[in-house]
Amino acid sequence: MSVAAHVVEAHGARIPVIGLGTWELRGRTCTRVVEQALQLGYRHVDTAELYDNEGEVGEGLRAAGIAREDVFVTTKIWPSHFAPRDLERSAQAGLERLRLSHVDLLLLHWPNPQIPLRDTLGALCKVKRAGLASHIGVSNFTVALIEQAVKLANEPLVCNQIEVHPFIDQSKVIASCRRHGMATVAYSPVARGGVSRHPLLARIAQAHGKTPAQVSLRFLAQRGIAVIPRTSRRERLSENLAIFDFELSEAEMGEIARLARRDGRIVDYAYSGSPQWD
Ligand SMILES: NC(=O)c1ccc[n+]([C@@H]2O[C@H](COP(=O)([O-])OP(=O)(O)OC[C@H]3O[C@@H](n4cnc5c(N)ncnc54)[C@H](OP(=O)(O)O)[C@@H]3O)[C@@H](O)[C@H]2O)c1
Repeated sequence: MSVAAHVVEAHGARIPVIGLGTWELRGRTCTRVVEQALQLGYRHVDTAELYDNEGEVGEGLRAAGIAREDVFVTTKIWPSHFAPRDLERSAQAGLERLRLSHVDLLLLHWPNPQIPLRDTLGALCKVKRAGLASHIGVSNFTVALIEQAVKLANEPLVCNQIEVHPFIDQSKVIASCRRHGMATVAYSPVARGGVSRHPLLARIAQAHGKTPAQVSLRFLAQRGIAVIPRTSRRERLSENLAIFDFELSEAEMGEIARLARRDGRIVDYAYSGSPQWD
């Protein structure tokens, strides 16, 4: 089965299980990595207004020469643009930078308690109905915020993009997403490279002839979670894609799940105020 056939489905969205993360990829490197990834078989690319690389991501998409409808493109609106008029302008500006007529998924990047969620979601739904995004969703939402968002939105929210890797327990948020038919998309899925140094992951990897990063990505994918690892290296683009030719046993899944620890979270922005994490 081709990698492209591996998708997570949610409210009609078909999200390829493996996506390319692009945070910190800039300029020519970003364009090159996006182009290489697509040529290697990636069909899902994750960017954001915040990353200051939507232009280069768009260039990489065009350079790869893959049909637009075959690539799933996600971007995100930063919380300082959550007032309805700002959100609509930001969504439009993102498309202009990407040089696309629409994105496949548009996310609220981080909760913003300063602006009523009802207003922000109203604008997000409007942008979707106007055809600028095929699907909409959220990122870094807690169980309580998901409950609120689902009640307030009058279009389906297809995903919550959150930090997930073996060192953090996100089971409550993932269960909440499932209850609402939302996909979980895992960011920092190789813990920024931290998984490579873990002895248990190294032992399991060796048993399967794989790397610890592949074990980490497989652990998530096997739980029905889409993953968006980032790398600037061609060989790791291939490595991070090659997770569909082995399976972790239930015992291995359990051992990996037990690596989660209280201080495992990597992304916690003091400056925009983190929500009360679950
Ligand atoms: N929604 C949000 O708030 C949010 C927050 C953070 C991230 N994200 C998204 O999620 C994406 C991924 O998360 P992330 O960038 O934080 O972390 P990540 O993908 O877990 O880790 C990226 C780092 O790991 C290294 N790496 C990649 N593949 C590897 C492998 N096979 N073996 C060893 N090291 C490897 C990379 O180095 P090399 O480049 O040297 O390979 C890079 O330094 C981001 O790029 C972004 O698109 C979203």
